[in-house]
Amino acid sequence: MADFASRDPLDPAFWNERFARSFTPWDRGGVPSALRDFVGRQARSFVTLIPGCGSAYELVYLCEAGWDATAIDFAPEAVARGRKLAGQWGERVVEADFFAWEPAHPVELIYECAFLCALPPAMRPRVVARWAELLGQGGRVAGFFYFDRTVKGPPFGIERAELDALMAPYFDCVEDEAVADSIPIFAGKERWLVWQRSADACVATARP
Ligand SMILES: C[S@@+](CC[C@H](N)C(=O)[O-])C[C@H]1O[C@@H](n2cnc3c(N)ncnc32)[C@H](O)[C@@H]1O
Repeated sequence: MADFASRDPLDPAFWNERFARSFTPWDRGGVPSALRDFVGRQARSFVTLIPGCGSAYELVYLCEAGWDATAIDFAPEAVARGRKLAGQWGERVVEADFFAWEPAHPVELIYECAFLCALPPAMRPRVVARWAELLGQGGRVAGFFYFDRTVKGPPFGIERAELDALMAPYFDCVEDEAVADSIPIFAGKERWLVWQRSADACVATARP
C-alpha cells in the first residue's frame, strides 16, 4: 500500500482511493454473526444508524428484517459500492459526514463496525460525544470494538480502560462478548459490546 496518495484517514480521499482500488482489508464480506444474534434477541425493531458503512452489508440485513436503518459514509466510492450492493435499499445509503449528518427520525441504535478504529485516536472523544448526542436515553451503540496497543493505523486499536473512560460519562456497557467470526485483521483483538445511553449525562457538542 506504499503508493496510495492520501495518508490522512480524516480525508474522504483516503477511503475513496482504497475503495476505488479494492484495497479493503477491513471488509468482512457479509453480516457478522454477532449482529444476527443481537437482532434475533430484540423484541422489536430499532431506528438504526450505520456510520462509516463502507459496503453496508448490514444495512440490507436490517432492512430485510423490517428495521428502519440508514447507512452513511463520507467517501463517494464507498457510497457507490454500498448503494450497488444494497439493491432496493440503495437510497438508504447516504453520502454524509458522521459529525454533520442530522437524522430524520430519532436514532435508537448505532451500529459500530470499524468506524471508531478508522479514525485517529484524537478523534475518539468526538465520536463518543456524537454517539451520545444522536441517541436518547436508553439508546444503544452496538458492535465491534478493536483492542490493540499499536500506535499505527488505521485500524487504530484502543485499550479497554481508555474506551471505558470515554464511554462512562454517557453509556453503560450492557453486553460484552467474544467474537467468533472475526476476519484476520481483527482476529483475537475485538469484542462485541453493547453500550446503553444513561439518563443524566450532559452532552458536549461533537462538532468542531
Ligand atoms: C475501515 S472502513 C469500515 C467500513 C465498514 N464499516 C466496514 O466495516 O466494512 C471506515 C469507513 O468510515 C468512513 N468514514 C470515515 N470517517 C467518516 C466520517 N467522518 N463520516 C462518514 N464516514 C466516515 C470511511 O469512508 C470508510 O468507509
